[in-house]
Amino acid sequence: MPRKIGPGFSTRAIHVGQKPDPATGAVVPPVYQTSTYAQSDVGVHQGYDYSRAGNPTRANLEMAVASLEGATHGIAFASGMAALSAIITHFKAGDHFIVSENVYGGTYRVLTQVFDRFGIGSTWVDTSALDNVVAALRPATVAIMVETPTNPMMSITDLAGVAQIARERNLLSMVDNTFMSPYFQRPLELGADLVFHSTTKYLGGHSDIIGGIVLTSNNELAEGLAFIQKSVGAVPAPFDCWLTSRSLKTLALRMEQHQANALALAAYLEGRTEVRKIFYPGLPSHPQHELATRQQRTPDGRPGYGGMISIETGSLEKARTLVNGLQIFTLAESLGGVESLVNHPATMTHAAVPRKKREAFGLTDGLVRFSVGVEDVADLEADIGQALARLT
Ligand SMILES: Cc1ncc(COP(=O)(O)O)c(C=O)c1O
Repeated sequence: MPRKIGPGFSTRAIHVGQKPDPATGAVVPPVYQTSTYAQSDVGVHQGYDYSRAGNPTRANLEMAVASLEGATHGIAFASGMAALSAIITHFKAGDHFIVSENVYGGTYRVLTQVFDRFGIGSTWVDTSALDNVVAALRPATVAIMVETPTNPMMSITDLAGVAQIARERNLLSMVDNTFMSPYFQRPLELGADLVFHSTTKYLGGHSDIIGGIVLTSNNELAEGLAFIQKSVGAVPAPFDCWLTSRSLKTLALRMEQHQANALALAAYLEGRTEVRKIFYPGLPSHPQHELATRQQRTPDGRPGYGGMISIETGSLEKARTLVNGLQIFTLAESLGGVESLVNHPATMTHAAVPRKKREAFGLTDGLVRFSVGVEDVADLEADIGQALARLT
């Protein structure tokens, strides 16, 4: 009898792509750790012939994340950067992208230092003001690529507004939804054509895999990306797909706890004199709090602000004292795991962005970014409190 899948987010997160194994009844589908598949005759197989082209464990993950983002297709990759590179590879020399100026440093690096050599151009603008997007349009523009909230300045772009600009001009709108996860933001519902994630972050959720995924309901785009996935071959390992599928089951629970902890810590940080400036869209003082409240929503309609907070300490020295003074927060690249991490964007995640460029949008040497985990919030607050006390 076919399994009935309920429509709720967590029901889908737990059951889509998670059918019990028909061969043994195992409730958790096995890891198909195989590179190839037996054929019963020349060209006769059961839907899979080689794991670069397709693998059942990968297909399960693709189906599950597509369901959570409200997409009809998911195409998984070996990393977030592999997913983004596959998207760009779908275009051709002479094409032009408009991109949010403050994004993950690797996004900036791959477009300006790799794909520019192949004739794919990009213009970087503050997409939180839609006029900037319109002003950057060129005849060669094919897509608008947005990250919101941005990493690490937490600036918000109006996704429905960008989708409309793109639609009116027959361009594609694409969103890096890594910071929010589909639990807090579903760009396709707001009109975007494509969403991508570094699954390394909240979808994986435990800092133990590297992965990426693209989601879309555009059949042509999906077909093109599946072709690139197979042809270029930056595919994730079956076990990493299995771990990510396992993690999706607790995505809602984790995101709720990341957010509860982040809201409490943001309020605490805002009251500390050592903190010159705080960037968290859940604070009413955030300049785009209203837009964030409108477009970042849990599946049952409550606002979602996520678990990422950045603060300005005032100098490199202060940032260094703070990050070195923390005991529960680990100084490390990455974000979105159950354990709290702290990052110094200027020298770590965003070192690829030239100083002048990053300072223009506020990414100074004094900026510190927290990925708030799901530990006891009182312990996190005490940890930040004692580390901040070293600044004065
Ligand atoms: C917002 C965002 N997008 C994309 C990436 C790239 O993903 P990956 O490290 O899995 O290649 C990252 C990584 O830090 C990120 O933070």
